[in-house]
Amino acid sequence: MTDWNARYAPRMSRMVASDIRERMKLLARPDIVHLGGGLPDPALFPRARIAEACARILGDPIGARTALQYALSEGHPPLREWLAGYMASIGAPCRPDNILITNGSQQALDFVAKLFLAPGDGVMVELPSFIGALRAFDAYEPCYERLPDGATELRTTRAKFGYVGTDFRNPTGTSLSRAAREALLDASAALDLPLVEDGCYEKLRFDGADIPSLLALEIARTGSIDAGRVIYTGTFSKIIAPSLRVGWVAAPEPVIRKLVLIKQAGDLATSALNQMILLDVAAASLETEAAKARAFYRARRDSMMAALDANMPPQVTWTRPEGGFYVWLTLPAGLDGNAVAERALAEGRVSVISGAAFYATAPERNTLRLSFSLAPEDAAREGVQRLGRVLRETIGG
Ligand SMILES: Cc1ncc(COP(=O)(O)O)c(C=O)c1O
Repeated sequence: MTDWNARYAPRMSRMVASDIRERMKLLARPDIVHLGGGLPDPALFPRARIAEACARILGDPIGARTALQYALSEGHPPLREWLAGYMASIGAPCRPDNILITNGSQQALDFVAKLFLAPGDGVMVELPSFIGALRAFDAYEPCYERLPDGATELRTTRAKFGYVGTDFRNPTGTSLSRAAREALLDASAALDLPLVEDGCYEKLRFDGADIPSLLALEIARTGSIDAGRVIYTGTFSKIIAPSLRVGWVAAPEPVIRKLVLIKQAGDLATSALNQMILLDVAAASLETEAAKARAFYRARRDSMMAALDANMPPQVTWTRPEGGFYVWLTLPAGLDGNAVAERALAEGRVSVISGAAFYATAPERNTLRLSFSLAPEDAAREGVQRLGRVLRETIGG
């Protein structure tokens, strides 16, 4: 029998199953409260709007030809055009040639890594960082360096780029302050370090004033996206529907031209039908959907904060996110988040994610990520109570 293990490329040794993807298999169990994965609540999916858009597109013989045909690798031109306008609306004007449509922003992260990283190359990431980005980068066998918040300690680096979450980061729920963003851009300019900005949650601010993205601040400094070093990734997944798998990259045009070659080699193009549906829905009602999502998740954030206040033992601390989907818990030193997550699942029937997996290096094991996006408020309250019980028992003895 073939020894498959001997044949796999070295990169495969770094590719392991994600705890989060594994936990998605538990979603079918009604006895478990899900505070683990960062899934949007299906109650928000604009099902009727999507059905109407689909019927409209396929009901038109000319539109249907385009919708069912291979799309251009760059993306459906009207969607690229719309996104250029959308980016301007969030303070980052660009042209359609600065946009590549991808199969979700996860694909954009993979493509960016494929473009820049050879084995052993450096990449700077925050500790902790979005696990999906780390898994995408791992396949290109990089060396990780820590990207400090705001990069004020950053004097030198050989990294090819830094990967940054700016708003309501996955996994911590925290955001980079405006001053930290400016400091990061200063460091990026001084070190000639490109920054990959993950804009996944930018539209999901519940309170406080919007902070311009790194891309917007960079464009304000340089006058144009083409003159800067920021590569921005965006997605419709959290506000419209993740299954359509439509995300985008906004970047200097030479970078987009290279990413298009990678797209051609990777999957030729993103589904034209899905792009057309998203354009139809987003053009008519992105702002309405975003406002609905903000009100909905704000209530869930508030209710989870109240449940944590009421149920966590005094030795546990947590972040207070101003948006997004996530809360980050720090447990007493010496406690292993992995063991706590296992015990919470087995004894408390509550699914949470151990924080260690989000670290590219030097994991802080006494951490957990909770998400307030999916569980209804009463279920989440019950889940936090159960987690509190498990933690009190663990800490107490
Ligand atoms: C920070 C961040 N970036 C990117 C993604 C990928 O999303 P998608 O591929 O659906 O656009 C996610 C999904 O959870 C995320 O949390």
